[in-house]
Amino acid sequence: MIKVRYIKLEGINMITTLPKRSMKPKARARELPFGRPPKVVLVVTTSLILITLISIYHPFEYQQPDYQSPEISSHNPPPPPSPPPPPPVTQVTVRDKNVVDPVVVDTDTTGANNKECDIFSGEWVPDPSAPYYTNETCMAIHEHQNCMKYGRPDSGFMKWRWKPFGCELLLFKPTQFLKIVRGKSMAFVGDSLARNHVQSLICLLSRVEYPKDISYTSDERFKRWNYVTHNFTLAMFTSPHLVKANQSDPDGPAHSGIFNLYLDEADEQWITQVDELDYLIISGGHWFFRSLIFYEKQRRVGCHLCQLKNVPYLSNFHGFRKALGTVFGAINSRKNYKGITYLRTLSPSHFEGGLWNAGGDCVRTKPSSRNETTLGGEETELYAIQKEEFRKAKAEGRKRGLKYRLLDTTQALLLRPDGHPSKYGHPPNEKWYNDCVHWCLPGPVDAWSNFLLEMMKIEGRISREEK
Ligand SMILES: *[C@@H]1O[C@H](CO)[C@@H](O)[C@H](O)[C@H]1NC(C)=O
Ligand SMILES: *[C@@H]1O[C@H](CO)[C@@H](O)[C@H](O)[C@H]1NC(C)=O
Ligand SMILES: *[C@@H]1O[C@H](CO)[C@@H](O)[C@H](O)[C@H]1NC(C)=O
Ligand SMILES: *[C@@H]1O[C@H](CO)[C@@H](O)[C@H](O)[C@H]1NC(C)=O
Repeated sequence: MIKVRYIKLEGINMITTLPKRSMKPKARARELPFGRPPKVVLVVTTSLILITLISIYHPFEYQQPDYQSPEISSHNPPPPPSPPPPPPVTQVTVRDKNVVDPVVVDTDTTGANNKECDIFSGEWVPDPSAPYYTNETCMAIHEHQNCMKYGRPDSGFMKWRWKPFGCELLLFKPTQFLKIVRGKSMAFVGDSLARNHVQSLICLLSRVEYPKDISYTSDERFKRWNYVTHNFTLAMFTSPHLVKANQSDPDGPAHSGIFNLYLDEADEQWITQVDELDYLIISGGHWFFRSLIFYEKQRRVGCHLCQLKNVPYLSNFHGFRKALGTVFGAINSRKNYKGITYLRTLSPSHFEGGLWNAGGDCVRTKPSSRNETTLGGEETELYAIQKEEFRKAKAEGRKRGLKYRLLDTTQALLLRPDGHPSKYGHPPNEKWYNDCVHWCLPGPVDAWSNFLLEMMKIEGRISREEK
């Protein structure tokens, strides 16, 4: 039995588990590790359901959230007073050499000494010239991520750049990016965080060109744009679970909504569109914290937080692993697809002082240093699954000449508790939860495009060398 607590928002109920010792580790609760010795100054929790605060289905609409009292209140101790300096956290840099080819950066592009440099391992350093766009110069910023519009008082969070240890990650150059992608097409597949990335990219490119909307449907979940002067097509496919899914019951036994996930069927809405793509950027994870019923071969095989009698428990981690395996398998079996597939790893959330729906917030105004943070337990697990499934996909893909690249941005963003909207993702008079999941624009996720461009440049160099 899992006790559930639910809150209804935008017509979508959200659900979270309460700790129950006997359920661990099957259904780990999103609890904050305050009981532990205060090794960690910044507690990064999962809270992922908050992602549904921002309805991906009606991205430009506001609806008054419909609050219901939590059925069960949970105990959320305040953060500990200033703990003693923690020892360096070595696990922050878990990088599996088998997973990613270290990204080698050469002297020409970076001034580094032409030695192997992992661009994903580094720190944030001040960048007084940032940001490179504003909410006035870029019209693509989603309401809920337009933090300055909603009165965020500090702007220092925009003024950092990522500095890899041992080399430089050059600033994003829109002209360079557009030159590389001339005549090509790129699509992002995932949830509202993928959209967050697309909008950041559009804003970064907006100094050079603003795209034309050429979407083939009025459904905001599926967008397509064209950069006319560069003949570059950019697309966004919203598919939070990546595999085929439908909401079987918007209410459900726990008033939480339940999604049917067909774990062995990639979501046709996007997989059928990939053949022409040159770049495919997959991401996801957060939606696997909800109530889910899993199907394989069209048969119900189990569920996570569904409260259905006679349905065996299957963990969300199992579902996530299967779903990723299915998706990569489907990509590898698309005979006409020849693009490069990137997996952008889990985007960490940063609630402190409580769960997402119990007063948790993210009020920091500066990046953390590496010794201050650690990834939450559930997020760690999703991140590990991503890397494992990526490795398998890459090996399979190689057999037929497909390239896979890991955009391993989790550690960099883990250091940015200051980058979320918190209460500045909505008008102050609207009651809303603090959003410590998505990212303000401009903001730290602008670096996602920096990483992407760096990897695309390296790709270009490799293919020139191969000629
Ligand atoms: C963490 O590391 C930074 C340098 O990276 C150092 O200045 C700071 O004192 C360290 N903090 C703790 C609490 O050890
Ligand atoms: C941009 O942010 C400013 C505050 O910095 C705000 O006054 C303005 O309304 C915002 N503009 C748009 C278009 O969102
Ligand atoms: C634009 O790019 C597509 C490939 O994505 C190519 O087929 C087409 O010929 C290009 N059009 C022009 C005008 O260059
Ligand atoms: C979800 O999809 C399955 C398989 O196509 C279908 O049998 C079922 O009726 C759908 N459920 C809803 C609520 O649309």
